[in-house]
Order: sequence, then C-alpha cells, then structure tokens
Amino acid sequence: MKTIVEPFKIKMVEPIKATTAEERDGMIAAAHYNLFKLRAEDVFIDLLTDSGTSAMSAEAWAGIMRGDESYAGARSWYRFEDAVKDIFGFQYIIPAHQGRAAERILFSLTVKAGNVIPNNTHFDTTKANIEFFGGKAVDIPCPEARQLDLDHPFKGNMEISALEKLVAEHGRENIPMIMLTITNNSGGGQPVSMANIKDVSRIARAAGIPFYIDACRFAENAYFIKQREAGYENVAAIDIAREIFSHADGCTMSAKKDAFANIGGFLCTNDAQLAERETNILILTEGFPTYGGLAGRDLEAIAVGLHEILDEHYLHYRLLSTSYVVTHLKDAGVPVVYPAGGHAVYIDAQRFLPHIPPLQYPGQSLSVELYREAGIRGVEIGTVMFGSDPHTGKETPAHWDLVRLAIPRRVYTQSHMDYVVEAIGNVWERREAIRGMRIVEAPAVLRHFSAKFDWL
Ligand code: F0G
Repeated sequence: MKTIVEPFKIKMVEPIKATTAEERDGMIAAAHYNLFKLRAEDVFIDLLTDSGTSAMSAEAWAGIMRGDESYAGARSWYRFEDAVKDIFGFQYIIPAHQGRAAERILFSLTVKAGNVIPNNTHFDTTKANIEFFGGKAVDIPCPEARQLDLDHPFKGNMEISALEKLVAEHGRENIPMIMLTITNNSGGGQPVSMANIKDVSRIARAAGIPFYIDACRFAENAYFIKQREAGYENVAAIDIAREIFSHADGCTMSAKKDAFANIGGFLCTNDAQLAERETNILILTEGFPTYGGLAGRDLEAIAVGLHEILDEHYLHYRLLSTSYVVTHLKDAGVPVVYPAGGHAVYIDAQRFLPHIPPLQYPGQSLSVELYREAGIRGVEIGTVMFGSDPHTGKETPAHWDLVRLAIPRRVYTQSHMDYVVEAIGNVWERREAIRGMRIVEAPAVLRHFSAKFDWL
C-alpha cells in the first residue's frame, strides 16, 4: 500500500482555531514579527518544536493515573529505571526535569576552563552549558553534512579524521568527553550510522576518553540504521538501540522527544564515582535521586513512552511522514535539506529568497510569511539565532539560514501535512515579492527568543 497511514486512532481531540489572513497580519505585527511572541492558540499548525509537544497514548495516560508520588523509592521510579536500563543498558541513571538539566549536571562535574568537547554538532543548550563551565564546544560533522541537498544516508556522522586530529592535538587531559548527537538536530535531523558510532567509540576508548551520546532522538536514529545500514535489516529497533548504547560510556536524554513525554530527561553513566557526585548535585538542584525534579506520574509516562517509541510500525510511519513533506517540496523545486531528517523539515531560506542577504534575515522573513500564509509556525535557524557575538554585538552571517518545521509526534495527521506542503508552495509562488527584515530591538544573548523585527 502506498497510502501513509497513522498507526493509531484518535480518542480525544483538541480543536485548533482557524484565523483569517487579515487577523494573522495583525497578530504577527503585534508580536513584532517574532513567532515566539505569538499566543500558541493563534497558531494553526505549530511546528516550532517536536519537544514536549507529542501526543501520549492511552497507556501513558493510564500510567499518569498510576503514578506513585512517594518522595523516596516510589513504584514509578522503579518502572522508569527498569525501562531505561532495558534499552540504554547503563548502570547508573540520574533523573532530571529535562535534557539541559542532565547536561548541566554532567558538565558541571567534568568540564574545566580550556577543555575541548567534540560533537558531530552540539545542540544550542549543550554548547551553552559547556561554555558556561569554560569549555569549548567543537562541531566536526562529516563533509557531506555541509552540502544541504547531497543525497547521503548518514549525514549526521562525525568526521573521523578530524576527531583523530583533535584528540592528537589536545590530548586526553583536555578532552573530558567525546559526544555524538543522534539524530543530529542542528545538522538537519540527520542520522548517525552504527559504523560511525563504533569508530568514535574505538577512538574514545583507545584514548581513554569517555564517550557520551546525546540520545534525544535515539529511536528515529535506530530506525534509520535499520532502513539504511547493511546488516541491520532484520534487527529489531530495540536491539539496534541497545547496540548503540553498548558502545558508549554514558548519555544525556531529553524524554520530551523520543519518549513521547511532555517533560523529563535523564543522565546515564557506568562510572560509580561520577554517578555519586552527579547524585549529590541532583539532590542539591533537582530533587531526591528517585524522582529528580519529576513527578511520579511523569516517570510512569516516560517508562511507557520509551518502549512505545520503539514500535516499528510507529517509526516507519514517522520517518515516512517527514520524508513525504520533504519529497513533495523538493519535487516542487523548493530548496530543502535532503534527504529528510527524522523529526523536522528544514527549508533553505538563502536559496528560497536569494535576493535577501543573510543580514536581512531571509529565514525570519520566510517564517513570518508561512505564518501569514497559513498560520504555520516554524523557527529560524540562521543569522538571527547565531549571527550576533554576545560580547561585541558584532553581526556576521550564519553559515546557513534555515527554517525548521519540527513535527510533534502523533499530533498532526497526513492531511495537516498536505496543508503544510500546499502553504509552502503558495509562498514559493510569490517569493520574489518577499522583503528582508531588520532588527528593531534585541538583547545581547539568545536574541531570537525576544528580538523585535520590522520589514525593510
Ligand atoms: N539535545 C538536543 C539534540 C536537543 O534537540 C535538545 C532540545 C536538547 C538536547 C535539550 O533538551 O529541551 O529537554 O532541555 N531540543 C528542542 C528543540 C528544544 O526544539 O530542538 P531539553
């Protein structure tokens, strides 16, 4: 069968408000052309993030009701711990309220001023947390990743020769860990191959450096491996996931992605001494070691979600549904990151709007136009997000100006995706008339969240 069909049926619905183009023009102007400032209820299809926005299943909601809210040793904690151990296989599990809290605990104990931490591509919070403790976050994606529409099965890979060079240059003393982000969110949601994971692991182990995985979208990555890497065609997604983590020494995880949860995260390690120190910080900042800033009901939902996400019918549908949008856009001539990543569609705004130079923010113009056209909210990943030096305020164009449309899990149907494709097509037809933007007001740090814009 060719039809893409959701492997779930809908028991409860949440109405979304239809708005007119005129209303949207007024609302986006009142929000100073910053999509973060819109009220979510004024958005028709919200593709701002796939994080914490998933739909939970009947089982997960039942888990919420079963949640044991005991302060210490709750039944829900043991269910959570069993689920994490079953898939991730690490000995020590530190629960946290979301991914960046796990990052903060890890880096606060391991990163010293002057240290270097390589990654295929650090996510913003990972980079910011490393820099907060004085480290340098270095991105070494494979060369194929730099060509936005080059067809390659594993554009999330790390460049192994660059990693070897970095290890030789800085030495084990200055590299507290080597990281891999699966899938590579900031690199277009592209997967990392098992071969690359093994290579990174081999180099890390030979050098005596711990190897950590940023596991946010581990299930999508595992299923890409099943589909694309020789030898894994007949291996179950859960076993691929188990193999991935067997090559690592620890991981950070945001359960807001590949666990279908609305909140939660964790940190894993096999190092008993480190785990003890992490637990001490956890008690100081997050909560007791058997809940770590989460309610018992959240732990239950994550335990259910972690196994549900590895359902291969779901994963097949998930990756197909994202690539459906990308393929349709590509066929219509719209410049997109190709092949499709797992969780999001990335439009190349520099090629969509070649008449708008990066310092006039083509990604921002395009995101605003998608909202004006059809009430769709995406996010600019480009010069607005990365183009300003927080210390000097000096602006430089980012390498890319992309618009990310992240797809919440199990929330929108195929007809919503058709609507998105049609809306982007309409904006594509009138692209030549779209103008650039200027920043009217912006803070020095993380300006994309609160900057005010206007049309040029
Ligand atoms: N690592 C990656 C790869 C992420 O994508 C995120 C969050 C985090 C870490 C941090 O996790 O939000 O639970 O603290 N990404 C979201 C996004 C915010 O929209 O891509 P968190």
